[in-house]
Amino acid sequence: MKIAIILGTRPEIIKLSSIIRELQNFSKENFYSCKTCEANLKHNQSNTHKDNKNIEYFIIHTNQHYSKNMDEIFFKELNLPTPKYNLNVGSGTHGEQTAKMIDGIEKILISENPDVVIVQGDTNTVLAGALSASKLHIKVAHVEAGLRSYDRNMPEETNRVLTDHISNYLFAPTEIAKHNLLKEGINKNVFVVGNTIVDATIQNIEIAENIYKYNNMSIKTNINEDYFLLTLHRAENTDNKERLTNIVNAIIKATEQYNKKIIFPMHPRTEKKLKEYNLFENLQKNSKIEIIEPVGYLEFLLLEKNAKLILTDSGGVQEEACILGAPCITLRDNTERPETIYIGSNILVNADINKILDGIGVMANKKINGNNPFGDGNSGKAIVKILLEN
Ligand code: UD1
Ligand code: UDP
Repeated sequence: MKIAIILGTRPEIIKLSSIIRELQNFSKENFYSCKTCEANLKHNQSNTHKDNKNIEYFIIHTNQHYSKNMDEIFFKELNLPTPKYNLNVGSGTHGEQTAKMIDGIEKILISENPDVVIVQGDTNTVLAGALSASKLHIKVAHVEAGLRSYDRNMPEETNRVLTDHISNYLFAPTEIAKHNLLKEGINKNVFVVGNTIVDATIQNIEIAENIYKYNNMSIKTNINEDYFLLTLHRAENTDNKERLTNIVNAIIKATEQYNKKIIFPMHPRTEKKLKEYNLFENLQKNSKIEIIEPVGYLEFLLLEKNAKLILTDSGGVQEEACILGAPCITLRDNTERPETIYIGSNILVNADINKILDGIGVMANKKINGNNPFGDGNSGKAIVKILLEN
């Protein structure tokens, strides 16, 4: 079986890392076990096995993200192989970016002719990968299928709905996600496998803590002080001057009201927009707000785990906060991760100054007791197993 993995952004690199590792292991051994041979899965004893399947895989990187700290750092930290193809697409309008990706991906898929294309999440890279494969009658496997915000103002919602409807394997993280697919008439090859973010978090938090403990990580911040952690990058916040202004004002007020430092690893999109709207300086001159460049995954996990509170509009960060037991408030009107709300680790505060300030009061220092709803950290293994058996 030949598998193409298509990725392009920071969260895709992180969330596909456990699947890539699993494929690496099996393609090294050049075998995979059959349904009846569970032991082989655990111990890689290929030679005792009858129904072997060869696995070959390769990675296509669209380079939707390209800055070192949005791209290269994750390949290094997660010890991932260099992609066989890099399309160097970079930034652009939705049409420009998606069209360039489709053009590049199609050519590669025609020449490589894989059996399956794996995409993860809801970015333009995901839609471009799924669409290119589907038109060539190559099977599409969508990891993190079935998430819905039911808000079509978000480009991500369009990408995930369209991708789900042209996918042949739908890897839903939870029963809620599966149910969303069923409601849209998608009922074939839907597998609830948890979210690969749990694999990545579990595999890397311990590494991060050990490296930190032995002073082998040069980190930009002091994680031993009390602080809140902030990330912000969603188009509905950054590209709307009123919403972004409200969030900035709320953050500034929060530093006074709660007397806490706020660490803000800033996405390049956000920096651009804050400068465009003349909001950057107000944040920068506030001594309690520590603006830093986006950090690597290991440092970010430490920042999340030790934060008294996380404020975010990121999908992955809502999940990680819940996995690491950090209280979270989400600076959005809706979330496609309702599981985090149900277990009490997350609340929605829109981009409303009072709701944000009240939300901080409710959630800061809250003890998160709910069980992580996104699985046990074996999603990558489960996905590869299902692909090989079906
Ligand atoms: C994209 C995804 C979003 C995801 C996010 C993860 C889409 C439509 N959006 O948003 O769903 O949550 O990635 O972070 O696919 N830029 C850089 N360097 C980079 C990348 C971006 O400077 O490496 C700047 C550029 O000014 C660019 C802007 O950020 O124009 C936006 O980048 P883009 O890839 O279009 O979208 P993201 O906001 O990163
Ligand atoms: N992340 C990181 N460094 C940072 C900010 C985030 O490594 O400075 C990681 C974070 O741990 C999570 C992922 O990036 O796994 C989330 O990506 P992002 O918020 O950009 O996208 P989203 O999840 O919203 O699509």
